[in-house]
Amino acid sequence: MPLASAFVRSGKVRDIYQIGDDKLLLVASDRLSAFDVILPTAIADKGRILTGLSRFWFSETSDIVANHLLSTDPEDVPASLTGGDLVLMADLRGRMMLGRRAEVLPVECVVRGYLSGSGWTDYQATGSVCGNALPSGLRESDRLPEPIFTPAWKAPAGHHDENIDFERVVELAGDRSLAAGMRDAALALYARGADICERAGIILADTKFEFGVLPSGELLLIDEVMTPDSSRFWDAGTYEPGRAQASYDKQFVRDWLEARAWTKTPPGPELPDDVAAGTRARYIEAYERITGASFARYLSEDVIAR
Ligand SMILES: Nc1ncnc2c1ncn2[C@@H]1O[C@H](COP(=O)(O)OP(=O)(O)OP(=O)(O)O)[C@@H](O)[C@H]1O
Ligand SMILES: [Mg+2]
Repeated sequence: MPLASAFVRSGKVRDIYQIGDDKLLLVASDRLSAFDVILPTAIADKGRILTGLSRFWFSETSDIVANHLLSTDPEDVPASLTGGDLVLMADLRGRMMLGRRAEVLPVECVVRGYLSGSGWTDYQATGSVCGNALPSGLRESDRLPEPIFTPAWKAPAGHHDENIDFERVVELAGDRSLAAGMRDAALALYARGADICERAGIILADTKFEFGVLPSGELLLIDEVMTPDSSRFWDAGTYEPGRAQASYDKQFVRDWLEARAWTKTPPGPELPDDVAAGTRARYIEAYERITGASFARYLSEDVIAR
């Protein structure tokens, strides 16, 4: 199949194809990972939900920073690669992004508005997170006085990402103004996202952005943006600091997994139909609450975006 000839690699979620010298085709699969294990059961349309949300955010934030998205229309994939195959094009629809290819900066640009996960761990040990000193006496999941930039080194496969301070970002980016540009863009993107989520009754506790640089030197927001896979979304209605919060999207499947004798090592168990359907419903609900648009409509649009 011609598309296979353009295949570059598979990430945990996306399959990546090279289109010419300067473009990439990112295809989001329906794979679901829980407790860092990719489960054998796919969640139907999950990749479309991730792509639909990213597309929404790219459009809502293009005034803050340029982004890689060129098109989500399968017609824009060169015919030499799709072979005009209608089944292939229907499968790509809604889950693909054609993007400008950039040199990826090896920094996970995390912004936190709340104290959770590795931020909470670091704070308990040091009273600060990635060089950001914080007031004493904060509880787990507390809202921070203001959002903070808490970058991590995007470690090569097989290593764990490692929290770093701003000076290390400068070293990794190779340029101070580029590093400052990433930090400032990440903070502005988080502020915009948190605001839109808040109106939907969702707390954007933290999120991770990736940036790249074009040959021209321009900074570009790449990858996916403010999806359930790259963010902690909490339901504002049940938020209560002083304990860990249920994540909006995956808690349902995590609860089911916790109730089993599974040791959280591969292979994970197959999900029963009702658990897969319940998980899908939560992802769809996140999409609909945040974008204010119907997911059924997203699926049925003949041209998702031009
Ligand atoms: N515009 C772009 N230019 C170059 N690379 C990009 C671009 N957008 C996304 N990427 C890369 O494509 C990959 C997306 O695949 P996916 O999200 O499945 O990967 P991952 O498992 O999260 O990350 P990785 O495989 O890097 O650990 C990421 O490695 C990301 O850095
Ligand atoms: Mg990713």
